[in-house]
Amino acid sequence: MSKLDIIKIPDPVLREISAPIETVDDDLRRLMDDMLETMYDAPGVGLAAVQVGIPKRLIVLDVNGDEANRQPIVMANPEIVRLGDELRTHEEGCLSIPDVHVEIERPGDLTVRYVDRDGKEQELDADGLLATAIQHEVDHLEGKLIIDFLSRLRRDMVIRKFRKALRA
Ligand code: NI
Repeated sequence: MSKLDIIKIPDPVLREISAPIETVDDDLRRLMDDMLETMYDAPGVGLAAVQVGIPKRLIVLDVNGDEANRQPIVMANPEIVRLGDELRTHEEGCLSIPDVHVEIERPGDLTVRYVDRDGKEQELDADGLLATAIQHEVDHLEGKLIIDFLSRLRRDMVIRKFRKALRA
C-alpha cells in the first residue's frame, strides 16, 4: 500500500464530474487500499478518488474513529437511492480544504447502492455520521464541495485564502 497526495482547492480537478467505474479489478482494489491508507493517515473519515486526482466514482469511508477496530467501507459507483425526511446539522470538514469547517444541514438517514471490492452490488442503510459522510463524498463525485454551502462572499474569501497560500 502507498500513501497518495491529496489535492486541495483551488485545484480545478476537484470540480470535475467523476466517471463511472467499469470493472472492479486488482488495479482498482490497489487504489481502494491506497485511498484507505491515505484517509487513515490524514486522518479523515472519508475520501473520494477525485481528491487524489483520479476523477472516478470511488469513495472510501470509516466513521468508527477507533484505530483498534477499523471498519473500512469502499464504494464504487455509489448512488443514494433514498434520503430520509429528517434533517440533521453537522459541522463538516474536508481533506481538500484544510482547517475550514462548515455547518451543513442534510437528511439524517439514507439508503445507498454501490459496488463493493469484490464487484458485488450492495445496498446499505446509514444514519448519523455515516449518512453525513456518504453525502459529503458523493458530492465530491459531482464536483461539489462544502464551501458551496456557504454564501458567495464567504466562499470567495476561503478560495482567495487558499490561492494566496498557494502563491506563498
Ligand atoms: Ni471532502
